[in-house]
Amino acid sequence: MKKTAIVTGAGRGIGFGIAKRLAEEDYRLVLVSRSEENRYAEHLDLLRRSDTDFLYIQADVSEPSDRERCLDLALKKYGRIDVLVNNAGIAPKVRRDLLEMTEESFDTLLRVNTKSVMFFSQIVARQMLRQEPTEGVRGIIVNISSMSAEVSSISRGEYCVSKAGVSMLTKLYADRLAGEQTYVYEVRPGIIETDMTGAVHEKYSRLFEEGLCPISRWGKPEDVAEAVNLLCSGKLKYTTGQSIDVDGGFQIKRL
Ligand SMILES: NC(=O)c1ccc[n+]([C@@H]2O[C@H](COP(=O)([O-])OP(=O)(O)OC[C@H]3O[C@@H](n4cnc5c(N)ncnc54)[C@H](OP(=O)(O)O)[C@@H]3O)[C@@H](O)[C@H]2O)c1
Repeated sequence: MKKTAIVTGAGRGIGFGIAKRLAEEDYRLVLVSRSEENRYAEHLDLLRRSDTDFLYIQADVSEPSDRERCLDLALKKYGRIDVLVNNAGIAPKVRRDLLEMTEESFDTLLRVNTKSVMFFSQIVARQMLRQEPTEGVRGIIVNISSMSAEVSSISRGEYCVSKAGVSMLTKLYADRLAGEQTYVYEVRPGIIETDMTGAVHEKYSRLFEEGLCPISRWGKPEDVAEAVNLLCSGKLKYTTGQSIDVDGGFQIKRL
């Protein structure tokens, strides 16, 4: 039977890259994004042309009632959830030095990037536990955090804190669900070419030229999608709570 995956933030960027990759594996897809469906008509047409069975839901993952609605609609259409990819996320509106960071920006980032992942995972995990296993797996959750879960950036500290929270909640859910044939992973993208990095494109292009990463190029949504697809395969049944860096080798200590 075909597997069903919910991907949040799937309208564009990394989320759409993940949706395209999972579509190639014949998943049925529930695509969640904040914008109206017609904003992504071109992307969705691409999926239609490849005969992908999908449902687009306009929803704000930071709203509890929207998260419930997403799960209800997904279950109504497909009956079970095999995979949840918590990808939706935001950067601070304004990059400010740590000593100038506002509480408002901190709260917003924590609400969207961390709290949404905590509580969407909670309702979806409860559903996964009600399901019979398929090929030995009840469900898989993949959280898209960031290299910022580990690396300090003092002009967007609230983003770093929000992603470090995602790392811990990945471990917590992995621990809680390990005995239930339900596996939880984290993918940490490095610097990926999407709208999110549009404002700093020139700066990072220059840094790549100067050797910022051993693999000296922008990361692509497809690079992240490949890692997510591997984790969703259900083949890593003795591995949970782990993270994969998709960052061109940025974290290697070099001399
Ligand atoms: N780009 C990078 O270099 C990079 C690096 C590390 C980690 N990441 C992480 O990767 C994820 C995707 O980033 P991206 O670069 O693809 O970002 P993006 O191009 O800005 O796209 C973000 C996506 O998330 C959706 N979204 C944001 N807030 C939402 C909400 N409250 N409810 C529902 N959907 C919401 C957006 O929906 P709309 O389009 O409808 O607004 C959009 O589809 C984020 O978690 C980000 O933190 C990115």
